[in-house]
Amino acid sequence: MLPLILAIESSCDETSAAIVRNGKVLNNVTASQSVHRKYGGVVPELASRAHQQNIVHVVNEALTTAGIENSELHAIAFTRGPGLMGSLLVGVSFAKGMALALGIPLIEVNHMEAHVLAHFIEEPRPTFPFLCLTASGGHTQIVLVKDFDDLTILGETQDDAVGEAFDKAAKILGLPYPGGPLIDELARQGNPHAFKFSETVMPGLNFSFSGIKTSFLYFLRDAKANDPQFVEKNLNDICASLQRQLVKMLLDKIEKAIKETGIREIAIAGGVSANSGLRTELDRRAQKSGWTIFIPDIQYCTDNAAMIAIAGHFKFMNNKFSDLSVTPVPNLAIGHTN
Ligand code: KG4
Ligand code: ZN
Repeated sequence: MLPLILAIESSCDETSAAIVRNGKVLNNVTASQSVHRKYGGVVPELASRAHQQNIVHVVNEALTTAGIENSELHAIAFTRGPGLMGSLLVGVSFAKGMALALGIPLIEVNHMEAHVLAHFIEEPRPTFPFLCLTASGGHTQIVLVKDFDDLTILGETQDDAVGEAFDKAAKILGLPYPGGPLIDELARQGNPHAFKFSETVMPGLNFSFSGIKTSFLYFLRDAKANDPQFVEKNLNDICASLQRQLVKMLLDKIEKAIKETGIREIAIAGGVSANSGLRTELDRRAQKSGWTIFIPDIQYCTDNAAMIAIAGHFKFMNNKFSDLSVTPVPNLAIGHTN
């Protein structure tokens, strides 16, 4: 049998559905929620309501554009966690209802594992073992990937995620949410060595981003006290300088992980892997040091159901199914799915 699976992602503020046939992802339909922009961050209550509004439409579009009838599906994969409880509940309940109605099995997927497995959607695919930096709005981790179902965290942030640092810095600058892509855009025109913010250096392979966020806040407060137009005059340089430092913090730890493990195959995943500064600097270091790197297509960096679909496919092949009593787990850790 060539497994045909519908995948649903609803962990945060993207409602997404995808179809995968025999390990080949056929499409990836996503409805992004603009409702959060004016609040400067995701409002959980509004996110779950928007998922409720979007989910039927998104799933129907995924089925229609793939030319598939409900009755042809062999399983429904869904994000069990980590994520916002209200958002996860919409996807989990929808997946359960559909699986029950069609009499087909459910496959739970760990959202962070799926970010890593997004590298198996398209060629070239990494070979095991490889290291993956997962950098998103909620997580910053260095993951040792030995197999599709053998992932171990070697180091992670002890406070804010790097995406959160981008978003909070953008908020301080008066930019709308999510600020990461905007900082990325503005940084292209700026001088990355114009300013330096103090940062906390963590031992081992762990990260800390709350220190640089605070020093960024105080730096701007003092600069604005001297010159109320400081941000307007220096916006590009501020963004470029902050981005250069955040990227360096990430890649210095990757370099350390490479030295410790001897593994030279490196992937990046999660929303922040869309950052052009990170992609360029990773490429530069890889060429210098002889690493093989894997950078996902932009559409598979931020939240999407294609990654849930491919992760669901590998679980289907291993007969890893969930029963109808499965519940969302907002803080689900890597390596803790069934
Ligand atoms: O993986 P993701 O879509 O959702 C979570 O699981 O969190 O990641 C969203 C995060 C946000 O913090 C967003 O600002 C950041 O990824 N992000 C970026 C870029 N694109 C998205 N950060 C820096 N540069 C980008 N180009
Ligand atoms: Zn994510």
